[in-house]
Amino acid sequence: MKTYLVTGAAGFIGSNYVKYLLANYQDVNIVILDALTYAGNYGTIASDVDGKRCVFVKGDICDAQLAAKLFAEYPISVVVNFAAESHVDRSIENPQLFLQTNILGTQNLLDAARKAWVTGKDDKGYPVWKPGVRFHQVSTDEVYGSLGKDGYFTETTPLDPRSPYSAAKTSADLFVKAYVETFKMPATITRCSNNYGPYHFPEKLIPLIIKNILEGKKLPVYGKGENVRDWLYVEDHCKAIEMVVRKGRPGEVYNVGGHNEKMNIEIVKLTIDTIRHIMETEPKYRAVLKTEVENINYDLITYVADRLGHDMRYAIDPTKITRELGWYPETKFEQGIVKTIYWYLDHQDWVKDVTSGDYQNYYERMYQNR
Ligand code: NAD
Ligand code: TYD
Repeated sequence: MKTYLVTGAAGFIGSNYVKYLLANYQDVNIVILDALTYAGNYGTIASDVDGKRCVFVKGDICDAQLAAKLFAEYPISVVVNFAAESHVDRSIENPQLFLQTNILGTQNLLDAARKAWVTGKDDKGYPVWKPGVRFHQVSTDEVYGSLGKDGYFTETTPLDPRSPYSAAKTSADLFVKAYVETFKMPATITRCSNNYGPYHFPEKLIPLIIKNILEGKKLPVYGKGENVRDWLYVEDHCKAIEMVVRKGRPGEVYNVGGHNEKMNIEIVKLTIDTIRHIMETEPKYRAVLKTEVENINYDLITYVADRLGHDMRYAIDPTKITRELGWYPETKFEQGIVKTIYWYLDHQDWVKDVTSGDYQNYYERMYQNR
């Protein structure tokens, strides 16, 4: 058995990863560390936490004492770091918080793992690591900046972050690289494109649009809606991470992308069309609507002021992970979005739960006078 410390697993991708691990790997025990910020929800993982294969600890990745205690208490040999402030719009409001969690938090985990996993020194003074240990950092394609109409991000594309969020994620990646070079830490990084799927907090484009359509609210599209993202179904991402943790070469970066480039406006229109179709053909779902079926149309689309420094296009070249590890994105966007919409229709209680806190204030602050 191996014990994984999975941080940020009460959030979107981390919770999907924990569910994926528990369902597919019998050789893994999990310690979840999550601060339960606005983006973390214990209910999302409550049914996975059994106190044996999977335990939950509420805490901050910046807390050095807590990290040391977890390494002392559990035989952790793998760290997968999802914990982060993850929303670009919030990073424009409060860059400092992103520096704190995304950079200092990652460095704190790197150090805690180093202290727990180093067993001595080699003849050149480099640390000797316990066999089989691995630190995995979940990063983003946003570290590469923004593309024009052509081209793809590869692992050798220069780092060129442009938002406070991506600047902080880039700094965290550089700390991981520094630990690889300086201490020979067995660490890997994955840089993925935009994920979508179950348990996605409705501040991000796709879940926000779904929520608003069901409520008959306006759909805020930034700028002209022509920005492009490369959408990756979250389960495909979880598979990629696990392949890299198990088989990826230490010290390497792997890009993970969906080959699913879409303009934001295309996504918004497809989501409207799909929900309208479901409501017309499966009347039982009309019970979740707070509007009439006829109101689900393109009139809901509202063009609002653009995001500051809005990256134009992201697109990943995942050749390296395909060639080395055999990973490829299995889910086409047209299938994944339908699965995702049904998930939200079937989990309205979850949406209510995660938006019961400060969500309404955030929404009004972000969109009222935009
Ligand atoms: P999320 O915002 O849904 O979840 C983040 C989780 O981290 C939450 O459970 C939150 O409570 C927890 N957290 C935040 N600060 C913490 C702290 N100081 N200590 C402990 N826990 C803390 O994020 P997500 O979308 O699941 O993203 C997960 C990771 O993947 C992030 O590192 C993000 O940068 C990266 N990523 C996300 C996407 C995407 O499309 N969502 C794309 C590329 C990379
Ligand atoms: P988002 O889901 O915030 O992810 P990211 O900024 O990390 O790519 O946004 C995806 C795209 O959708 C991005 O181009 C910004 C745009 N967007 C809107 O047009 N309206 C919205 O309300 C949101 C949240 C995003």
